[in-house]
Amino acid sequence: MVQSGVHPDEEIRLPGRPGFGDAIAGKKAVTGMKKQADAKKVLITGGLGFIGSSIARRCVSEGRQVTLVDACLEPYGWNLFNIRDISEKVRFVRGDVRDPDLMDALVSGSDVVFHMAAQVGREISMENPRLDAEINCIGTLNVLEAARKSLKPPVVVFAGSRGQTGEPDVLPVDESHPDRPTDIYGINKLAAEKYLFLYQQVYGIPVVSLRLNNVYGPRCQMHAGFYGILNWFMANAMTGKPVTVYGQGLQTRDYVYIDDVVEAFFLAAFNEKAFGQMFYVGSGVETVFLDMARQVVRAVGKGQIVHVPFPEQREKIDIKRFVVNTVKFRTATGWQARTGLEEGVARTAGYYRQWLEHYLNRGKT
Ligand SMILES: NC(=O)c1ccc[n+]([C@@H]2O[C@H](COP(=O)([O-])OP(=O)(O)OC[C@H]3O[C@@H](n4cnc5c(N)ncnc54)[C@H](O)[C@@H]3O)[C@@H](O)[C@H]2O)c1
Repeated sequence: MVQSGVHPDEEIRLPGRPGFGDAIAGKKAVTGMKKQADAKKVLITGGLGFIGSSIARRCVSEGRQVTLVDACLEPYGWNLFNIRDISEKVRFVRGDVRDPDLMDALVSGSDVVFHMAAQVGREISMENPRLDAEINCIGTLNVLEAARKSLKPPVVVFAGSRGQTGEPDVLPVDESHPDRPTDIYGINKLAAEKYLFLYQQVYGIPVVSLRLNNVYGPRCQMHAGFYGILNWFMANAMTGKPVTVYGQGLQTRDYVYIDDVVEAFFLAAFNEKAFGQMFYVGSGVETVFLDMARQVVRAVGKGQIVHVPFPEQREKIDIKRFVVNTVKFRTATGWQARTGLEEGVARTAGYYRQWLEHYLNRGKT
C-alpha cells in the first residue's frame, strides 16, 4: 500500500524551505543554488538513505539542483541527519516511488535520476515478497514510465546488487557471469534491471545499472543488522554489545567504501560510454567476513566477537564467497576503488565517534 504521496501536507519541510506544492505550481522551488551554465537537475530516489544522501552531497558541491524523494519507510536507512549540512541547498519531498503520479511530476524535467529507493532487506523480501516486488519492481517501472513520458528523458542510473548474481561459479565475478539469485530481493532487482534495458532499447532512455557489493561508510544506518552489516558491527562495538558472527564467519565478501561508490555513480551518470550497460562495482578484494569484524573491532578500539549459529532461514540464502572484477567499468569510465578496508573502516569509525547518537536515535536528534 502506498503510504504517502504527492499531497504537500505530507512532505517534511526543512526549515525555511519551499515545498513540493510550490514546485508543482511553477514557482521557484529551489533557492540558494549555485548557478552554473551546465547545472544539471538531479532527482535522487531514496535520497535520505546512505548512498542517496552521499550522492546528494556530491551533487550540491558541484552546484547541481537536487531533489530528494524518500518515503521514510521502516526499517530502512533514511535519516534527516544525513542531509543536515546541505538541507538549505536541496529540495526534499516525502513520497513513495510506488506513487506513479508523484514519479511523473518529479522525473519530468530532471536531467539525471539516481534511483536508490528500494526494499533492501534480503530476509524481508522472503517474508514479504509482495512488498519487495511493489517497491523494487513497480517502483522502478514508475520511474521508467515517468522517464518515457518526459519531453527530454533523463539518464536513469539504477542501484543494482550483487544479490542478482547468486552463488558464483567462478571468482572473481564479472559481467559475463550467469544470474541465479537466491532470494526474492535478487530476483526483483534483476527484473528491475531488465526493465531498465528494455526502456533504453525500445524508448531510447539512457540507463545504467551498477551492481553494488557490500557498501560501508559514514551515513549508513546503524540501527539494524539485516543489511549494512559492517556498520552494524561498528555500532555494537562502540556501545559494548557483542559483535555476533554467524558460524565460523568464513564466508567472503567484497567491501567497497562509500566515496568510491559515489564516484562510480557520477562516472556512470555523466559518461555516455556507460549507457545501456550493467557494471559490477566493488573493491576487487575478497575479504573473509571474520577478518572484516576484526578490522572493525581494531578501528573502534574495543568490542567482543561472538560466534553464534547461523539462523536456518539466513543460511539457506547466504552466499559463500563473493568478489568482483571491475575491469569492464574501469575500461568504460576509468573508475577504480581507491579506499582500502583498513582506511575506510578507520574513516567510518571517525565519523561515528562524533555522530553515533544521531544514528542510534534517528529522528530524535
Ligand atoms: N548498501 C549496500 O551495501 C548496497 C548493496 C547493494 C545494493 N544497494 C542498493 O543501493 C540502494 C541504496 O541503498 P542504501 O544502502 O543507501 O539503503 P538505505 O536504506 O540507507 O536507503 C534506501 C532509502 O530508500 C528509501 N525507500 C525505501 N522504500 C522507498 C519507497 N517505496 N519510496 C521512496 N523511498 C523509499 C528508504 O526510506 C531509505 O531512505 C538500494 O537500492 C539498495 O538496494 C545497496
